[in-house]
Amino acid sequence: MSFLLFLFAGRYLTHQKGLPCLPVPPLQQTCERYLAALEPIVEADEVKRTKGLLEEFQRAGGLGERLQRGLEKRASKTENWLSQWWVQVAYLDYRLPVVVHSSPGLVLPRMNFSDKKGQIRFAAKLIAGVLDFKTMIDNETLPVEYLGGKPLCMNQYYEVLSSCRIPGLKRDSVVNHAKSSRPPKHITIVHNFQFFVLDVYNSDGTPLTADQLCIQLERICNASTNSNSEPVGILTTQHRDSWGKAYLNLIKDKTNKESVLAIQRSIFTLCLDGAMPRVSNELYRSCAAIQMLHGGGSQWNSGNRWFDKTLQFIVGEDGACGANYEHAPAEGPPIVALIDHVVEYTRKPEMVRSPMVPLPMPRKLDFHITPDIKKDIEEAKNSMNTVMVFGHFGKNFPKAHKMSPDAFIQMALQLAYYRMYQHCCATYESASLRMFRLGRTDTIRSASRASAAFVRAFDDASKQKVDLMEKAVKAHRSYTNMAISGQAIDRHLLGLKMQAVEENLSVPDVLKDAAYTKALHYRLSTSQVPSQTDCVMCFGPVVPNGYGVCYNPMNDHINFAVSAFNSCKETSAAQLAQAVVDALLDMRTLLEQTPRAKL
Ligand SMILES: *[C@@H]1O[C@H](CO)[C@@H](O)[C@H](O)[C@H]1NC(C)=O
Ligand SMILES: *[C@@H]1O[C@H](CO)[C@@H](O)[C@H](O)[C@H]1NC(C)=O
Ligand SMILES: *[C@@H]1O[C@H](CO)[C@@H](O)[C@H](O)[C@H]1NC(C)=O
Ligand SMILES: *[C@@H]1O[C@H](CO)[C@@H](O)[C@H](O)[C@H]1NC(C)=O
Repeated sequence: MSFLLFLFAGRYLTHQKGLPCLPVPPLQQTCERYLAALEPIVEADEVKRTKGLLEEFQRAGGLGERLQRGLEKRASKTENWLSQWWVQVAYLDYRLPVVVHSSPGLVLPRMNFSDKKGQIRFAAKLIAGVLDFKTMIDNETLPVEYLGGKPLCMNQYYEVLSSCRIPGLKRDSVVNHAKSSRPPKHITIVHNFQFFVLDVYNSDGTPLTADQLCIQLERICNASTNSNSEPVGILTTQHRDSWGKAYLNLIKDKTNKESVLAIQRSIFTLCLDGAMPRVSNELYRSCAAIQMLHGGGSQWNSGNRWFDKTLQFIVGEDGACGANYEHAPAEGPPIVALIDHVVEYTRKPEMVRSPMVPLPMPRKLDFHITPDIKKDIEEAKNSMNTVMVFGHFGKNFPKAHKMSPDAFIQMALQLAYYRMYQHCCATYESASLRMFRLGRTDTIRSASRASAAFVRAFDDASKQKVDLMEKAVKAHRSYTNMAISGQAIDRHLLGLKMQAVEENLSVPDVLKDAAYTKALHYRLSTSQVPSQTDCVMCFGPVVPNGYGVCYNPMNDHINFAVSAFNSCKETSAAQLAQAVVDALLDMRTLLEQTPRAKL
């Protein structure tokens, strides 16, 4: 055994050390590409103004050169010049609630149970499945992932278990207890707004079996049948500044502090949810998306969460099942890979015999709720989501026409948006930087010159529509390749700005300009998160008048989750979802009507 450990320990580090470092793109290249990216989304006079500002910025011996040198120096001294800044700016300094604004939900297909007993049974298997995955993380036997033949950074897998976000007054932080000298052996269960610590390893170090977990979960449910507990977890749905303040107030009490620490240290949290409003089968997935994204409001399950926890699995009484994760430590793909493994695990028949040893009663976490804390406990924000399954075709169709499925879907989104608003908008699609050590994401700007030409021509009688579609798809594919190889523009521009702040220099005018603000106002925030399981991730819009669109292209259908804020009159998730369906169908018709030889 010790021999095996010796063999495998260090495997992860060796892999990580072999990965290339994220490059700093050339300054001139980024400036040129930025100007091109502005064209479809701002007015011509603004492009002209930016052109002038960029010339000044790039002047020989000017600010641009100085900041670029600073960035290159930083890149030579750190493992990744970007990631720490990115996590800070995109997550820890971001003060809107993590719920809806930052934390994605994940909706799994409805499971085959419809009562408490089935819920507990399934939850037990799910926990066993996560622990099985954790063994691969712990013993460093997780298979390395590849993208386009290149090995990817595996660090995010090591950040999602036993970690938690902690609110601060101005800036949050993340703790990871997996790396501590005494890594946690417990998970937290929340049922009827009450938190429990559940030890998930036997004294010999083996994980509890599904049967053992079942008994423990039943004991927890038996000990928390009353639903009149104060929903402390609802505090984690607040604006981060408010929660930061309430947090200090909460942990003044020693019992509260210990309870909070137990949640933070736990491997993950499992939420055994109460019933949600009953809906028809067609509405089921949209309703489940709300449950996974924010719990449905304080009257339903929003208090049955600890939204700071990096990973929360959610199991309802009616077969609803999914997850919610705090975004700072990781992107969607590692979470989905973990969940694919878990779903596969829950489908296997159980073979393991449970040891016949009595288990200790899971410990309930107490909270003392003062009137002050009670005042802090308030309702979460609501949002409207539409989850739609596009059943006419999946990624097989664009593939048969030799088009990238992702680019094809992105162009359908561009077309759908253009048809609704008669203009193009700044569009964000996340691109993985995991080819580089500790890489996170950059932005694929899906609105390009080519996409604008395509969507403008589509509803005209123009003859070159197919040609324009092909060009738009190709342009998207090439932007994607550029982004995943570290040559996109957005993180570089952010880096130049951060470098200016770091060196106490003034932020370049070009990065304070109205055009830059517009370029960052993403009315379409999108992400492709593929999986083996027939699931879909969902997240909220990143601007008040925008949309969040996440999709999972399967072979013969595509799962979409479209979100928009209820409070915004300009947007409608249902309308955009319908426009996407129409756009995909119209694009298919166009391709099918065009003789193959021409393609
Ligand atoms: C679902 O559960 C019912 C009743 O327990 C059972 O008859 C059926 O075979 C199950 N279906 C699947 C797909 O597991
Ligand atoms: C690592 O974990 C996996 C998954 O549980 C298991 O199959 C494998 O035997 C373990 N390997 C070692 C070296 O412990
Ligand atoms: C939970 O409560 C039910 C009903 O009182 C009881 O039959 C069952 O044995 C209890 N389960 C456990 C694990 O204590
Ligand atoms: C920037 O200013 C801060 C605070 O005034 C100071 O601590 C820091 O050393 C300065 N950094 C540089 C690079 O001059």
